[in-house]
Amino acid sequence: MKESVDFQDFVDEVIAKNDIVDLISRYTTLKRVGNRYQALCPLHNDQKTPSFSVSPDKQLFHCFGCGAGGTVIHFVMAKENLDFMEAVKLLAEKAGVPIPDPRSQGERDRSAAIHNKKKRMYEMNSEAARFFFSCLTAKGNEKALEYLRGRGLSNSTIKSFGIGYAPDKWSALIDFMKSKGYTLEELLEGGLAKKRDGGTYYDVFRDRIMFPILDVRGNVIAFGGRTLNDNQAKYLNSPETLVYKKKDNLFGMNIAKNSKAGQFLLMEGYMDVVSLHQNGFDNAVASLGTAFTPQQAAVLKRYADKAVLCYDADEAGQKAADRAGTILREADIKTRVLTITDGKDPDEYINAKGGEMFKLLVDNAESFIEYKLGKIEKQYNLEDTVEKIEFIEQIAKILANIKNQVEREVYIKNTARKTDISPESIAAQVQNVILKNKKANIRKDISSDRRTYEARTGGRDDLEKMRLYNAEKLMLNLICEKDVFQNVVKTLTPQDFTEGLHRRLAEIIFKSHTENRKINPMLVISEFPEEDAGRISEILSDDKNVDNKKEAIALPLKIIKSYRLKQEEKTLTDHGDTQKLQEIMNKLKKDKM
Ligand code: GTP
Ligand code: MN
Repeated sequence: MKESVDFQDFVDEVIAKNDIVDLISRYTTLKRVGNRYQALCPLHNDQKTPSFSVSPDKQLFHCFGCGAGGTVIHFVMAKENLDFMEAVKLLAEKAGVPIPDPRSQGERDRSAAIHNKKKRMYEMNSEAARFFFSCLTAKGNEKALEYLRGRGLSNSTIKSFGIGYAPDKWSALIDFMKSKGYTLEELLEGGLAKKRDGGTYYDVFRDRIMFPILDVRGNVIAFGGRTLNDNQAKYLNSPETLVYKKKDNLFGMNIAKNSKAGQFLLMEGYMDVVSLHQNGFDNAVASLGTAFTPQQAAVLKRYADKAVLCYDADEAGQKAADRAGTILREADIKTRVLTITDGKDPDEYINAKGGEMFKLLVDNAESFIEYKLGKIEKQYNLEDTVEKIEFIEQIAKILANIKNQVEREVYIKNTARKTDISPESIAAQVQNVILKNKKANIRKDISSDRRTYEARTGGRDDLEKMRLYNAEKLMLNLICEKDVFQNVVKTLTPQDFTEGLHRRLAEIIFKSHTENRKINPMLVISEFPEEDAGRISEILSDDKNVDNKKEAIALPLKIIKSYRLKQEEKTLTDHGDTQKLQEIMNKLKKDKM
């Protein structure tokens, strides 16, 4: 959508009509410093010094603490947890800018066709769910209802989840759906029927307890079916369809999203969720028999920022909990882990011990970090010096991932107590890992450009690359101004920027100047994917503390140029061109820093 010219005009108007200083001052107190404003960042916690900066001239913000940055739109996206379009719409409404339909007639038609097809598939799935539900009480199917009773489910639970039964026949659903006007092709596409080689169709779900899967809006999007005879796969799930994307949905979410609990209970199975809801835990959800995904974490995060992992106690369950916990923490969801010790899953536990006992487990669940630390602790004998040192190394790796300083300190102190090693030493170890990770991240960024990555190896090289990387950033900031640009344009080209994003940005800046257009940071940002907004705003921000830009250009220019010369030197050495090599060596000597 962003490609359309009209649409870009609309976005520009929305940005122009929402002054960034006005908007952000509603969330935090802005203090004028020179040509910009400073504040505590309204997008992240734990800060002692103001690391958030707003430029009224550029209409950009950037936080040097959390790395967020961009235009008013990016701010609203981050603050209100919206996607790009949602944020633009909100700001458009705020400023009274009429919202155009950015699409061509063809696109509109296609989208209407998909919309109608989806609607029809939702209706088909609902119809199927109603059919399965009615089969529970149909004559001859008594064993299905008996099974659910045997697992302790009440009528009202069965009803509120719409649990049903797929009869032990080859075309019970097909026959019913045909009578409702659905075609075989539709059933096939919806994952409810399959085609035999001979061209005839049969029901996918047979002799199974049926759990309808609903999206957050309450549409039936898929089914999970549990077998009632032991000679087949225990669970059979709908395939992905136009309306069902596994990675985006959680079982039980349509109910749990309304919970007042303030946290979600994340479990593995359909029955776990159903049982927990019956026992008053209306916040239980399951990740649909696959590994928990970052998309699912984002869905949870819309409604609450806390979760308790209630995975099975077996090895597979624990591994899954490990991965899910890491994903949840990355999504900034406070995560705890509940451990059921006697080998039961949540459903079995609550049936055996009752809701009160389960509540106790939930309330006493340890934090995900404690859980990880505990697991490491079990692997080492702390009486042994060598093992103790290794233990601290392992612990430091985990603690280095904690962004919240207070939280980190709590665990450092705990570890200090356990090992009788000073908190300072442990903290130093943790800092080491943090630094290493940071360097690795910068390396990762740089590695997007192979020229730089392949240049050299070894410790000194990291420093050199970081220096080059920073020089490129500063250079990009400075050459936004036309007269600074004119000073370097003879010696510098966009190709001299080694990092991918830097080079693209350089190309845009060079092009604007050459075409005699003023650099508009907002427009520049809109040329990049949204996830790059923070990096661009950092580069373009006014925080460079540079008095005289023309003078300030000297050092970064020297670094970038000498890097280029060294590259050339290397190529020439590889090709054995001694004469040219000598020329370059001389230049390098002259430029010696
Ligand atoms: P019950 O025996 O009904 O209590 O099931 P459970 O949820 O305790 O089963 P289990 O712990 O074995 O599996 C947890 C979840 O993994 C299930 O709810 C399913 O979503 C999924 N699952 C289990 N078995 C299968 C299978 O055979 N195929 C598929 N696709 N998913 C499965
Ligand atoms: Mn179970």
